[in-house]
Amino acid sequence: MLSAYLEWPSQIRHAVSKWDLVKVTGEYRDIAVFGMGGSGIVGDYLQVLSSQVGRCPVTVVKSHLVPSFIDKYTLSIVVSYSGNTLETLLAFKSILEKRVPVVAVSSGGLLKELSQRYGVLHVDVPSGLVPRASLPSMLFSVLGVLSHSNCSLITKKEAENCAEFLEENLPEIERKAREISDWLFEKAIAEKRLIVLATHSPLEALAVRFKNELNENSKVITKVDVAPEWMHNDIVGYEEPNISNYAVLEIVDPDDSVGAKLVEFMEGVYKEHDAIFRSVELKGGNALEKLLYGSLVAGLTSVHLAEKRGIDPMVTRSIAMYKNKVREIFPVTPWLNFKAT
Ligand code: PA5
Repeated sequence: MLSAYLEWPSQIRHAVSKWDLVKVTGEYRDIAVFGMGGSGIVGDYLQVLSSQVGRCPVTVVKSHLVPSFIDKYTLSIVVSYSGNTLETLLAFKSILEKRVPVVAVSSGGLLKELSQRYGVLHVDVPSGLVPRASLPSMLFSVLGVLSHSNCSLITKKEAENCAEFLEENLPEIERKAREISDWLFEKAIAEKRLIVLATHSPLEALAVRFKNELNENSKVITKVDVAPEWMHNDIVGYEEPNISNYAVLEIVDPDDSVGAKLVEFMEGVYKEHDAIFRSVELKGGNALEKLLYGSLVAGLTSVHLAEKRGIDPMVTRSIAMYKNKVREIFPVTPWLNFKAT
């Protein structure tokens, strides 16, 4: 698992080597990205990038339900690493029924099979990893697909630079991840504190990704606090809190002075309670590099924490349990008859 994360620069380079092979051209009004969990994060990150450097609004759909506004002017991107996630396949089916532009991304599974059957543009990503460890493969494949359309977000050169940036910073990222996992293990877990990931806009997607990594790899419960929204609801809970001790991991972009002050304000509130603090300062020349830097710190931290806890980061027993039951929850037509993986 550790090596899968350490090989992220190679994952990016592999996706970049296929940059011009699968592409959409043409003009779209907006993008909708479908996917759950480790695949769903691709949509979150595209939304962040689009808000900062893009021209097409991105809607993230982590559901089997397809928004009503999706029409022939929307490019739908359906991402499932395994290709067998039921919610994603149900959404894919509805998109096909609407006969609107769609691209599918998977390492195989039914999504690939159905794409071939229905003539949908499909992007293959390398198989054999867990979805969350394959983030660069999925994300950069989609960025490559988009790069010839009006919704392009980054150039091939920027993608190559990002691989180089991660590689150069790997020793530092690895060191930070070890320090944070030591702190989480010795302080947060040993002292039974609630782990809080405190951040500022526009880093919510990264904090959610950090949470998901700690959930899935380290098997811990974690809360995400995002300023300034936090100041308009969560903050009131600390007037009479029902939980008494916190380990607050602050995720801050040092180039964003307002963001840093917002997190400092949040720290002030937590300081009135039994809280301990540690910060993760992001690094990178642009939004994409900062997202990848933070995601790699998160991934490695979560794997080290799992090791310390004597837990296998690869195995997500409860997700598998849900996936085995999911067909009893959603109506499944023979069209979607398959075995969950
Ligand atoms: O990281 C994981 O293993 C999960 O969050 C999965 O990504 C999630 O269950 C969806 O599966 P898939 O990515 O194969 O569609």
